[in-house]
Amino acid sequence: MRAWALSEWALVPVRLFLGVTFTFAGLQKLSNPAFFQATSPTSIQSQMAGAARLSPIHSFLHAMLPHAVLIGWIIAYGELAIGLGTLLGLKTRIAAIAGAFLSLNLFLAVSFHSSPYFTGADIVFLFAWMPLIIAGGGSRFSADALIARAAAKQSGFGMSPLVALPFETVQNFCGHYHEGSCTARSGDPCEASQCPVLLSRAPQVTPVDITTFKRRSVVIGGTTAAVVAGAAVVTGFLTTAAGHLEASAASGEKSTTSSTLPGGGSNAGTGGAAGTLLGPASSVPIGSAATFTIPSSGDPGIIFQLSKGTFVAYDAVCPHAGCTVGYAPSAKIMVCPCHGSEFVVATGQVISGPAPHGLTPLTVSESSNGNLYLQ
Ligand code: FES
Repeated sequence: MRAWALSEWALVPVRLFLGVTFTFAGLQKLSNPAFFQATSPTSIQSQMAGAARLSPIHSFLHAMLPHAVLIGWIIAYGELAIGLGTLLGLKTRIAAIAGAFLSLNLFLAVSFHSSPYFTGADIVFLFAWMPLIIAGGGSRFSADALIARAAAKQSGFGMSPLVALPFETVQNFCGHYHEGSCTARSGDPCEASQCPVLLSRAPQVTPVDITTFKRRSVVIGGTTAAVVAGAAVVTGFLTTAAGHLEASAASGEKSTTSSTLPGGGSNAGTGGAAGTLLGPASSVPIGSAATFTIPSSGDPGIIFQLSKGTFVAYDAVCPHAGCTVGYAPSAKIMVCPCHGSEFVVATGQVISGPAPHGLTPLTVSESSNGNLYLQ
């Protein structure tokens, strides 16, 4: 089969991938109650707060932080709508423009500092949307194409299929072609514009009411989009309800137990330990985590008490793109909310990337009077 005949299938793989990925991403957020809980390290609040530290749109992110939950809902349902539209080929260009807009914002917010740059998926998604913005959804497995055909039929004109053929093919079957000449035209040079075969089969153009066609397209397309949007809302609602049920059924599965140390901001040097006072060691029970601010850099820090009197602490800035790492007590690991890097609590080493290396360790000590100091 010729490449030109296959070309109308070219957009199907990219539509499938983007459609499935965005639908899954939306449903995953809706099914995860922790995504909306500020105390969870994987919540939208944590992601926005972490991204706001280094992002080039940090001012915007800071301003939006109080509305993080609303933004989380918009992102989740937006991804679901974009995914379904792309998958079905329904309003594909609009879905692709929305997908590119979302990918661009995610790139600026959480992937801008990914190094190398291609380890952040958002820039790849951004460019993956381009063919669909330029060409639409194509004619295969496309609701847009079906809607156009239905509107054409209802408007009283058929969309008879026009098939593209290379001119050599016409020359092969016409029976008049001979060594560059046309025997039907007294041996004149063979030319597509003068071809008697093509001219005899030229489509008969009949006047059509284009206004009716456009109106029918809007009605059928709008009705289809409304039905799909309704189904998406119901699916999203059921997914959210199922996620909450599952979370409440899972005993002992709390999203986080991290507390925040007050910090002293001065070199106290009392009780046999020197450094910057973080707070009472009792604020970090064995097996739990607490967060604090590192005075010298302003970076977020995270501290654990592994066993009685044994503390480890890290700069909580993810080495991938600078989001703030949090503690996931159910898995007993540290997790980056932006791209899912995981780190060992006891050492700070990477369990899984894309973070290129582990967290920067900090030195903390406990004084005899029960306070924690950062060296
Ligand atoms: S910022 Fe990308 S995994 Fe942490």
